[in-house]
Amino acid sequence: MPATVIVGLQWGDEGKGKATDFLSEQVRWVVRYQGGDNAGHTIVLGTEVFKLHLVPSGVLYPHIVPLIGPGVVVNPATLIGELDGLAARGVDTSRVRVSHACHVIMPYHVAEDRASEARLGRAGIGTTHRGIGPAYADRASRVGLRMEDLLDETALRRKLERLVPDKNAWLAQIGDEGRPFAVEALVESALSWGVRLREQIADTTTLIQDALRAGDHALFEGAQGTLLDLDHGSYPFVTSSSPVAGGACTGGGIGPLQVTAVIGIMKAYTTRVGAGPYPTELLDEIGEGIAMRGHEFGTTTGRRRRVGWFDAVPLRYAVDVNSVSSIILNKLDILSGIDEIRLCVAYEINGRRVERWPASAEEVARAKPIYETFPGWPEELHAARTPDDLPPNARAYVGALAALAGVPITLVSVGPERTQTVILDDRPLAAGRG
Ligand code: GDP
Ligand code: IMO
Ligand code: MG
Repeated sequence: MPATVIVGLQWGDEGKGKATDFLSEQVRWVVRYQGGDNAGHTIVLGTEVFKLHLVPSGVLYPHIVPLIGPGVVVNPATLIGELDGLAARGVDTSRVRVSHACHVIMPYHVAEDRASEARLGRAGIGTTHRGIGPAYADRASRVGLRMEDLLDETALRRKLERLVPDKNAWLAQIGDEGRPFAVEALVESALSWGVRLREQIADTTTLIQDALRAGDHALFEGAQGTLLDLDHGSYPFVTSSSPVAGGACTGGGIGPLQVTAVIGIMKAYTTRVGAGPYPTELLDEIGEGIAMRGHEFGTTTGRRRRVGWFDAVPLRYAVDVNSVSSIILNKLDILSGIDEIRLCVAYEINGRRVERWPASAEEVARAKPIYETFPGWPEELHAARTPDDLPPNARAYVGALAALAGVPITLVSVGPERTQTVILDDRPLAAGRG
């Protein structure tokens, strides 16, 4: 009954989509466990590019059952659009199932997200404006709609009649200029989503438990990353869910002892979208060069991602809080041509050397990185497939990252395409450390 969690070790966009797609060949189920359409996971197959926001990244394989677990917040209009878009490109989406317990992102959540960010102005979080925070807030307040409500007109109308006046009042109070939401129009939209998704709304927890009992292998595909986690990231510059591996249990419908391996995904440098402290951020032409070579523009919002050197301080923390058993390293190819590569191994805070990830965002904001330097390599890496194809300086850099993490790096990605992958250890799905 193997269950492997795929988790981002940085601030998201580490290449979880590519890694999940690559590993899907060897498993039967792929389960999204948190987040919503704030995620943008890219898969490149030959000349075809797929950008997935809600549908799990295993969907391109006919043998995979893709599940959207109860911890995900679902914008049904986005989900329907994504399913239709995939079907139009010849992808069979009939096996996709979405939990009856997923909370629904309604149009007023998107309005609330935009309005509260606008009100915060420069102090904003820099959210994706997808209504993620407001939908999770309603879930915690126990006033949200769940996917099952889209199939029950009476419950739907009762809940919306209670909630919508409060939403309109709040939006009007903070000066939102949009028209007030009308209950009847929302009921009509929600019922039409229910009609479209009826066959796909299911009890995904029972499905995954039965599958594990039968001995199938399941991947749990995290969205965002450890440093954006509501509890473990630098609050408040975080998302509103639990991207860490523990989130796969609560949001995917499995128990902690069912997780057999945790694969951390990271890139060879760092990026961050949105606001918040970022000690190794590069504001010079080296950063600009990495951003351009790496096409560091958001998959969901198109925003230019902030770029920085690799930071081993939060890496050690991420390995611990996720109990990472092995790592997949992406985008090594993007560092080709840089003379000297820097790697942050510790911070200086108030004149003291600090190797632990600081607990507060204020402390992270005061951290000055302490770097080790590595000689770069001029060669392009896109054609590398075996460790021997990597230049010695690239191998030394990968070795340093693995040593700092304290767990093995099994795969190194050297391009966006599925096959642009160097296999260092041919058992990337092997069970975790004991
Ligand atoms: P995710 O959110 O973690 O799935 O990552 P994104 O898809 O948002 O961002 C990763 C971007 O890098 C995508 O455009 C991928 O196609 C691309 N990518 C992934 N791995 C590699 C790699 O090794 N090299 C290069 N050049 N691009 C990569
Ligand atoms: P994937 O799964 C990178 C960031 C936003 C913002 C913060 C809160 O593709 O790695 P939210 O809309 O979630 O309330 O925004 O989180 N963010 C991401 N950054 N990759 C993502 O997803 C992200 N999803 C949210 O930019 O800083
Ligand atoms: Mg992304």
